[in-house]
Parts: sequence; structure tokens; C-alpha cells
Amino acid sequence: MLVSVIGAGYVGLVAACCLANSGHRVKCVEHDRSKCEMLAGGLLPFYEEGLGDLLARGVKGGKLSFSTEIESIKNTEIIIVAVGTPSRPDGKVDLGQIFGVMTDISELATEPVTLIMKSTVPPGLGLQLQKRFLFQKSGKIAYVSNPEFLREGRAVKDWYQPERIVVGAETPEAVETVKSLYSDIEAPFCVMDISSAEMVKYASNAFLATKISFINEIANLCELVGADIIPVARAVGMDGRIGGSFLQAGLGYGGSCFPKDTKGLDFISTLNGHTFNLLKAVIEVNARQRILAVRKLSRLLDSLCGKKIAILGLSFKPGTDDTRESPSLDIIRMLGDEGAEVTAYDPMAVLRQNAGPLPEFTLCGDPLAALTSSHAAVITTEWREFLDMDWEKAWKIMSPPRVILDGRNCLDPHKIKSLGFQYAGMGRA
Ligand code: UDX
Repeated sequence: MLVSVIGAGYVGLVAACCLANSGHRVKCVEHDRSKCEMLAGGLLPFYEEGLGDLLARGVKGGKLSFSTEIESIKNTEIIIVAVGTPSRPDGKVDLGQIFGVMTDISELATEPVTLIMKSTVPPGLGLQLQKRFLFQKSGKIAYVSNPEFLREGRAVKDWYQPERIVVGAETPEAVETVKSLYSDIEAPFCVMDISSAEMVKYASNAFLATKISFINEIANLCELVGADIIPVARAVGMDGRIGGSFLQAGLGYGGSCFPKDTKGLDFISTLNGHTFNLLKAVIEVNARQRILAVRKLSRLLDSLCGKKIAILGLSFKPGTDDTRESPSLDIIRMLGDEGAEVTAYDPMAVLRQNAGPLPEFTLCGDPLAALTSSHAAVITTEWREFLDMDWEKAWKIMSPPRVILDGRNCLDPHKIKSLGFQYAGMGRA
């Protein structure tokens, strides 16, 4: 099939490379000229496991091309929209890019065409977009909501092995078109109306975020009553009705999706006259978790003022170079406000403009450099490198009282304590 993908962000680029690899002819439209040139040369602007190979193969084999010209959406059978829907400070979803693209599509698209919306948009928006932008072409441009559930660090795997493919459409023909696009992927199709499909994305992310905040609250309670969150979460998760994933207590969630989508859904609820108290609590618990970690460190060190703290991990989770909404950046900011001097190390993180204003800290080239003469270290991302590190050497180069705050509960407390460190986790006995 001939496919256009508008937007070469995480979602658009994964879609474009994977579809080209499946044999479709894909044109990807990206208005950022330098990014576009980089991609056309077969280079990725960010790290994503396995994606670089697919990009190079697609470009070399002529199945995948990049352009800054939106006119290239003409004469394609399918247009996939994957532009950003960032959240404004009040949580409102910023739909500026969506409206811009819809104007272009309404002017340029050659019918018949299927428009697949992959960007996360508020439930109900698809119907409004059809009325506002596509009314003159009704029946000729089929609008489909097809949310994505890709995780950074395993997006290619998630693309080829999804647990379900959600399709919100108004006609059986549109559903069939989506099915042929994904004909090489084995997964159940969940077919529904457009607004429901839009809701699935928000509900899924909000539920996963709820699991994380819930287990973090249990972890906080564990500390107060002298219980240990690790065996508690393991046993709770063994109940099939609950499930063991997303029960890892720690510093809470970050990234480009959960913070944006939970705040977005809260705003959408309020806008519709509904107070989503449970979700408000999820968001509040997540923000508080970072503050609790800083308070814990302050207690362990008596005061943070004048102390040297090493932050191990800047990306919001292992396996990605993305620092958007990363707990570590908030923690560094708070430590700086308390008068601490911060050094940091991450094996992969790239500090990009889109992660917001950066707090002050010294970026080090290896973990031991960050730890040198520090009074404490905070594990903010559970990179394998930190688990396998020479902690004995770390003890020698750190300064007393040598506190390790394991914000991701990833180290072995017995081993760390036996080396002479003061160890504290999140919800550990
Ligand atoms: C998420 C969704 O999983 C994905 O389906 C959606 O399309 C985009 O958002 P992603 O942001 O890549 O994916 O990361 P994910 O692996 O879900 O983790 C999100 C955050 O939650 C990370 O900061 C992670 O550290 C944290 N997390 C995850 C926990 O704190 N505890 C857990 O048990 C799981």
C-alpha cells in the first residue's frame, strides 16, 4: 500500500519504519528540515532499539522516503497522523499541530483515502475533526482512530507483537483497510466507534499510572509499619486479577506519555463536568514521590545544604535516552534548591530542549566520577550498569556518611550494607 505518515516523532517514525519493513511504500512528512535530512540519510535523531536498522533498510531499499513538503500526501491510499499533542501547563491538550495537519489534509488529500489518527487526542475529537475539516469530503476521506501503545525502548517489538490493535471506525471498509495495512501482524482487532477508541488510549495509560501510584502508596505505608514492598508487591501481583506488571515501587512514572495523558484526562473530565478524584490522586501521589525521596535524603544526611550528591540515571527509564518528565531532573532541581551540589551520570540520556529547562548540575562521563567525594548517591534509573557496578570501589571514593538512596529498589540491600554503606530504598523494611 502507499502510505503517508505525518510527523517523524517517536510514534510516526516507528510506524513509518515498521510499515516500510512490512513492504508498504511509505512517505514520511516532517517539517523540521534538519531532522528530515538526517532521516533521509538513514540516521535516527534518538535512540530506539532496532529502529536504526529498519530505517537504514527502508531508505536504502527505496521503500521509505522523507520530505518536508506536505504536498507529498497527495495520491496516497492511507494518511497516518502522528503529530505531537503536548499538554499545556493546566493539563489541556494542545491540539495546534492536529488542526494544522487537518487543514492540510482537507486541502490536499486526493480521495478516496483513509486517515488514520495515531496521535493521542481527547475522546470525541475525531467526530469534531470530521465535521470541521472533512465535511466537504464526507464519504471520501474515511477517518479512523487507531491509538498506539508503544513503549520507548521496545517500540519495534510492541509494533510487531501488540497485545491488541484498537480500531475506531464508522464503516466496515475503513476497518478492512486498517486490517490490510497490518496484515503481517498477529493480534486481536478491537473494533469500535471512534470516540471509544480514543478513550481506550487514555484509559489504558491512566490505569497503568494508577497501578504505579497505588503501589507507591503501599510502599510508603510499608515504611511506616515496618513491612517490605518487594515481597508485598510480588505476592499481590501473583493474583491474576491484579497482575504483576507496573507494580514496581519507586520514584514514580515519567516519560512522554503517562504524565501528559493523566493530566490530559483529568482536564477532559473537568471540561465535561466530571471530577475524576481517583486520577487526581494518582497525579498527586506521583509528584509527591519525588519530594518524599528528597526529604528522605535530607533526613539521612541531617541537611542537604553543602552536601555533594551523585545522581545515577537521567533518562525516565532504562533503555531510552529520553529525559522528558524524568523524576531525576525534578530531584536534581529540589536538591539544588536545598543547597546541595549535584553531579550526575547516565549511560545514554541526551538532554534535549523538549525535556524543559535544565536544573544546575555537573554531568560526568562515568558513574565513579559522579560518585567521587559525594556524601550520597541516588539511583534514579535502574540501568543494568548501576547494578553491576564496583560498589566496593564506590565506597572508597565517596565521603561519609556514604548514603545510597535506591529510588528504584534495584540494588541488593544486603550487599550494599555489607560494604559499609547506609542503604535506603522506597518502601523497604
Ligand atoms: C507508556 C505506555 O506503557 C505505552 O503503552 C504508551 O504508548 C506510552 O507510555 P513508556 O512511557 O515508554 O510507555 O514507558 P513505560 O515502560 O510504560 O514506563 C512509564 C514510567 O513508569 C517510567 O518512568 C517507569 O519507570 C515507570 N514505572 C513503570 C514505574 O515506576 N513502575 C512500574 O512498575 C512500571
